[in-house]
Amino acid sequence: MRHALVRRLLAAAPAWLALPAWLALPAWLAALAWLAAPALAWLAAPALAGGSQPAMSAAAAAAPMAAAPWWQHAVIYEIYPRSFQDSDGDGVGDLNGITSRLDYLRELGVDAVWLAPVYPSPQVDFGYDISAYTAIDPQYGTLADLDRLVAEAGKRHIRVLMDMVLNHTSDQHRWFQESMRSRTNDKADWFVWNDGIPADTPGTTPFQQRFAHDGRVPPNNWESLFGGSAWEWVPARAQFYYHRFYRQQPDLNWNNPAVETAMFDVMRFWLDRGIAGFRLDAITSIFEDPGLRDEPQLEGVNDQGDPALDHMYTEGLATDALLRRMRTLVDSYPGNRVLIGETYVSSTAELDRLYGGAAKDELQLPMDMLAGLYVNAKLTAPYQRRYLEEAQAQLHGSQPLLVYDNHDNARSIDRFGDGVHDVAIAKLLAALLYTTRATALTYYGAEIGMRTAPPTRREDVKDPIGITGWPAQKGRDGERTPMQWTPGAQAGFSTNPHTWLPIPPSHREVNVETERADPDSLLNWTRRIIALRRGNAAIRDGAMRMLDRDDAHVLIYARTATASQEAVIVALNMSDQPRLVHFEVQSGIAGARPIAAGRPIAAGSARTLLSTDPSLRGEVALAGLKIAPYAVWIAAVIG
Ligand code: GLC
Repeated sequence: MRHALVRRLLAAAPAWLALPAWLALPAWLAALAWLAAPALAWLAAPALAGGSQPAMSAAAAAAPMAAAPWWQHAVIYEIYPRSFQDSDGDGVGDLNGITSRLDYLRELGVDAVWLAPVYPSPQVDFGYDISAYTAIDPQYGTLADLDRLVAEAGKRHIRVLMDMVLNHTSDQHRWFQESMRSRTNDKADWFVWNDGIPADTPGTTPFQQRFAHDGRVPPNNWESLFGGSAWEWVPARAQFYYHRFYRQQPDLNWNNPAVETAMFDVMRFWLDRGIAGFRLDAITSIFEDPGLRDEPQLEGVNDQGDPALDHMYTEGLATDALLRRMRTLVDSYPGNRVLIGETYVSSTAELDRLYGGAAKDELQLPMDMLAGLYVNAKLTAPYQRRYLEEAQAQLHGSQPLLVYDNHDNARSIDRFGDGVHDVAIAKLLAALLYTTRATALTYYGAEIGMRTAPPTRREDVKDPIGITGWPAQKGRDGERTPMQWTPGAQAGFSTNPHTWLPIPPSHREVNVETERADPDSLLNWTRRIIALRRGNAAIRDGAMRMLDRDDAHVLIYARTATASQEAVIVALNMSDQPRLVHFEVQSGIAGARPIAAGRPIAAGSARTLLSTDPSLRGEVALAGLKIAPYAVWIAAVIG
């Protein structure tokens, strides 16, 4: 089954946050854990509450980090610039706002930020409709502000990644404005134009007929992902143009070499300014079937009410040659610039292809959405084990990039939360993201457990797909609400009470200031786990193996450091019941043996590094180990 890009998987979960009693640590114990954490050798990142010490110890910063490209161990943090921090009181976030929050990101342990588009744009798709590629939209600031952000971030060892929308421009871009004027102008062939077919052509569908103009209908049944036909009529050319997304987002014609030249120039412009790489928007939609074949119709309708289609002729067509040329371009710059792909694919094999397979000469980091964002993704041990194992075994050793949250999907705490253990589940998701062998991509607000807050009335919706798709599709406003910094006015996001999206009432409890002061908060958990990842060689880049492939509830894996062979075990209880962790499995202890220096692992014990289960502290015997509902246990194996 193919992935539908934008979807709501669940109705909003309850807004209240319920902490089960067993999770509420006694105050003295919590304080002790809090004080002890920074003292541990591998926990070198600063305490959020304690200010701005260096982010890593000298030991943690040593050799292994230097040997591999920076992105291989990175924590990448997606910022939706409209919603992160408003610095000028217009109710919309901006670049200077982001710069003012860099210390927060550094304390969290972030290595790079990806900025959703900040280029000039009519904002139909909130920046994903770009009208000029080498400038900054005035509502976000200036090029000088961007330069300052890059410089200030650099001082804190944070890199800046830009979003690069190659598939389409805004219809207000001068290339399209020129292209749409006639069939003969300089840019006539820069977009995907088609004459359509006579409306009385046998076999045309009622859907096509809905879009008839001057006796012609679109050449096929292709649909915009955002509703309606993918073909829009332009009287001046008496032709249709193709748009995968909104009609204000015409697709560029990548079969025209002039388009590639122009876009590669754009990429050079930003690389020259010190941008560390790009997140390539909709990169699997670049090409369409040259034969313009109809897409097979599936059962039912999509969330815009149009016939459901298998997008086999508009998504996932081979981009290998183009990506190889793009990789050559970024590799010509120093400093390991990186290409990250927005790659909604339905199998690990397709993902592997986007790396360039064994040659590894295409994207360094296509996003692996299978574990966390795929339409069928489940937070169960068998589901997560399957995709995590595939990512280790089927990518020719390439580095997976795990993603559980982004600006297009309901937040993971709501998709995977059960309404009872939501904070515990969010902590467990953080453990998955930061302790598996993968580059980690997170989304602002996930670290404090911000909730999805979809509009409740159609007239409040900002995202156009929420207007056209209401009520089945409420749009993506819910996952884009302003960052919750404080319990006070506008959550500390803006001085203006009219923020571009409303501040959810949950900000009174769920915010940075409150969580900073609470040792047991999701924020402090996330900070500790990122610090552990940075400082512990096994977790940072050790091999990963599953320890019990049959456990239906507990995901258990070991990370083993290459040089020292030191091993760390991670156990994640993905169920609402306490569970016994089985280290001795049907296949005997063979699966576990290599991590315990030849000894049966179940005979040994382990020293807890981090856990959300208060009963698992200090040295813990592995035999008969019991783990609380949705708890996380991370421990160093004692030889
Ligand atoms: C990507 C973006 C999404 C946008 C679409 C069209 O999927 O993540 O927000 O609407 O591309 O550019």
